[in-house]
Amino acid sequence: MTPILTFFNNRSGVGKTLLVYHAAWMLSELDRTVLVVDLDPQANLTAAFLDEDTLAELWNDQASSSGETIHQCVAPLAQVGDVRDPELRRPSDRLYLLPGDLALSGFEELLSTEWRNCLGSRNLHRAFRVTTAFWQVVRKGAVESGADIVLVDIGPSLGAINRSALIATDFVAVPLAADLPSWRGLRNLGPTLRRWRVEWKQRHDNWAEPDFDLPAGNMQPIGYLIQRHGVRLSRPVEADDRWARHVPAEYSRSVLDDETRAAAADPQADEHCIATVKHYRGLVHLARDARKPIFSLAAGDGALGSHAAAARDAFRDYRTLVENLLRRTHAASAAAELPLVASPPTGPA
Ligand SMILES: Nc1ncnc2c1ncn2[C@@H]1O[C@H](COP(=O)(O)OP(=O)(O)OP(=O)(O)O)[C@@H](O)[C@H]1O
Ligand SMILES: [Mg+2]
Repeated sequence: MTPILTFFNNRSGVGKTLLVYHAAWMLSELDRTVLVVDLDPQANLTAAFLDEDTLAELWNDQASSSGETIHQCVAPLAQVGDVRDPELRRPSDRLYLLPGDLALSGFEELLSTEWRNCLGSRNLHRAFRVTTAFWQVVRKGAVESGADIVLVDIGPSLGAINRSALIATDFVAVPLAADLPSWRGLRNLGPTLRRWRVEWKQRHDNWAEPDFDLPAGNMQPIGYLIQRHGVRLSRPVEADDRWARHVPAEYSRSVLDDETRAAAADPQADEHCIATVKHYRGLVHLARDARKPIFSLAAGDGALGSHAAAARDAFRDYRTLVENLLRRTHAASAAAELPLVASPPTGPA
């Protein structure tokens, strides 16, 4: 089965969506087929891929009987129906998108109710069908697209939508800002992941004879990505460094539940740091306007002079980032005997 990797931090604005967008494009550049799934009811990732006219059409049609957004796929469960097959968008040859939907927030209450019902003794089929709805839809999308890997973007919350998204995931990468709330936030994030894993197992065990496949709910952390170099222009880099230095130990303690490891004094020397993400400043706006990743910006998009050089550097940075992601999912798959994503390429292009 195709590995599913979710970028998770309940803190808002740490660059999750921008990361998923760029990682997806870079994976397709590296000849991987990738499915991106937008499970954030804010649907910012979807808005990065699709123009406003397309979005207006997509989100207008709440009575739709198609599966053009994640909400349309799971909505029948609120009545007496079952999940619908997703109708994927295809921003490029090797890149597929299962669009998000502002209406998805309306699904949260049903997820909460059925999560409780999974521990009951009656009507377990429905309780588990709802609770695993995202996984069912994502799996169908992965088969339809022939994806090598699925990347999932979720919103900044510890609510029922994200819990369902996480039980559907094999791997978790944690984007962080180099600031105090990000560092301290790991103390909530780590224990929450572990609690969800345990609670899912209790539910899984409660259904002795499931009548459809259920996800394993591994949600295995594969590391963090940290955004440094002055998250806000007004803040000096030293302020970033001050808080970033706390991250390796906190990640080990809170996310990996490992008190024993002597953590590195700096993320750059930490084995759990997947990448340091630069602040791309003006390039982000150019990329948004051009509806392209930063590393594909050309002179015609306004990337001239130093912007052109920065875009080229960004290509190299995101390539390294994605190779690290692949290497880690590959290593973790092998260790856990999960299905393997194709090995990352070695060496530069
Ligand atoms: N590396 C970066 N360089 C420059 N700007 C960035 C970078 N990463 C994110 N941003 C900007 O910061 C803002 C927040 O980023 P993004 O939407 O990716 O965060 P998020 O974690 O997904 O937020 P939310 O939790 O609300 O979904 C956006 O305006 C984005 O363009
Ligand atoms: Mg986001």
